[in-house]
Amino acid sequence: MDKEMILVVDDDTATVDILEEALGSFGYNCRTSNNGFKALELMKKELFAAAICDIRMPGMDGLEVMTEARKIAPGVPFIVITGFVEEYVYDQVIEAGATDFIRKPLRLGELKIKLDRVLSERLLQKKNRTLLKKANSLNDRLTGLLIMARELSLELDFENLFPLIIKKVTEAMGAERTSLYLIDWNRGEIWTKVAEHFKKIRLPIGKGISGRVAETGDTINVADAWNLPYFDRSFDQDSNFRTRAVLCMPISNRQGDRIAVIQVINKVGGLRFGKDDLQILKGLSGFVAIALENSFLIEELEASFEGAIRTLAATVDARHPLTAGHSQRVTEYALAIAGEMKLDEDALKEINYAGLLHDIGKIGIKDSVLLKSGPFTAEERAAMNEHTTKTLAILEKFHFSKKLRDVPILATYHHEKVNGKGYPFGLTGNELPLASKILAAADVFDALTSRRDYPKYVGNEGMGFEPMPFGKVIGIFKADRGSHFDPGVIDAFFRCMPEILRRHRGKHFSPEYVDGAISLLEAEI
Ligand SMILES: [Fe+2]
Ligand SMILES: [Fe+2]
Repeated sequence: MDKEMILVVDDDTATVDILEEALGSFGYNCRTSNNGFKALELMKKELFAAAICDIRMPGMDGLEVMTEARKIAPGVPFIVITGFVEEYVYDQVIEAGATDFIRKPLRLGELKIKLDRVLSERLLQKKNRTLLKKANSLNDRLTGLLIMARELSLELDFENLFPLIIKKVTEAMGAERTSLYLIDWNRGEIWTKVAEHFKKIRLPIGKGISGRVAETGDTINVADAWNLPYFDRSFDQDSNFRTRAVLCMPISNRQGDRIAVIQVINKVGGLRFGKDDLQILKGLSGFVAIALENSFLIEELEASFEGAIRTLAATVDARHPLTAGHSQRVTEYALAIAGEMKLDEDALKEINYAGLLHDIGKIGIKDSVLLKSGPFTAEERAAMNEHTTKTLAILEKFHFSKKLRDVPILATYHHEKVNGKGYPFGLTGNELPLASKILAAADVFDALTSRRDYPKYVGNEGMGFEPMPFGKVIGIFKADRGSHFDPGVIDAFFRCMPEILRRHRGKHFSPEYVDGAISLLEAEI
């Protein structure tokens, strides 16, 4: 260890000489000054472990030296030498910042004891300050962790949760980058999403750092990943990035199964991740595990809800072979229109369910009406039209989440017209939600372009059972734009119609029908 440097300030050269020699023999280095001004200059240039300072000096006395020294180097302890204690009361000297006294004539034994004590106190204070700083920084990080835990627990949508975890962990760990891999044990792979395009990257379990951690469950903490033989440098080379410090650990669920791997890369302002980082990341992993599990549960719930609804919709469609797939197609067309109109994610979800369920009320229509081939009588038409209110009655019994609570209404209005001449309520354009107006257009489009076992009519002209010639379909939508249909919806529909037709070419629509339709649509534009 380097010798501690002591500053000696005394106008008496003999005392300075004695002190210099004594300090050398005690194992200290020293600088000397015979006046306060020079002493302060020395303190500006060098950091001293302690100062031994005479009180009575010409020009600037010891009290002034201490007062000025506090401004230059506040932590340096002062031992005051004086033969005139009576002239300077003890309180004054302590107030000026002295840590201790020694009296003239100097007794070197006393000096050594006091100096050693002052220096060990100073060392202790230094250690305490470091510990306090560490405790405060740990405290800040723990507070950050709790805030983060709350933020993660509020985000249930996996698509949003994934980037949120990456962002929060990067911040909390003071890392340059973070990667999160989910483990797919069935495929023997780990996978992640790349932020820029949200593209999935898949790697075999066991490959690279994350793959190894997934496989073994061990934490890896290294100063330079490039020194690991199994580190894959190609990501760095492709992205012009240099991975150095890596801390990578597994994330397990409540059952103890490994579900993911989290990896923080390059400690900002440090060479590698330390013990505290390891503890913090362990804490974070617990929150990440809970947040991931919650989002998986929600995803599963949504998937089973959607599955049940699709089955229900298919059951209605299946009551009549010619309407098979109707609800599915109406939903698809409606989603295409909604996408074209730039509706948000929540609106698309509502349209999805309302589309799938819009004709669910047909479950309550008797076969003699529902399966009738040929035109309806007035009573039969009235009975058939009741499928909308039956849809409402059925869907009202469903438990839809808050975001989907309008689905029953949206589905019920699919036969309403913007001029108020639709059914069941005769609502007008500004009373109708946009989603219902979109469903109305999609529903009519599928009815006109699908084979049905009752003839289609344009005015009084029978169009037969087959899909209506596409020129007539365009004609109907143009004629009814603003009366039956919302103009904005029809405009958006025309823009996405070619894509819809192409998607079903050779499937629901014959290739000739699609090709003819597209050339007619192109001519329209
Ligand atoms: Fe309907
Ligand atoms: Fe329908």
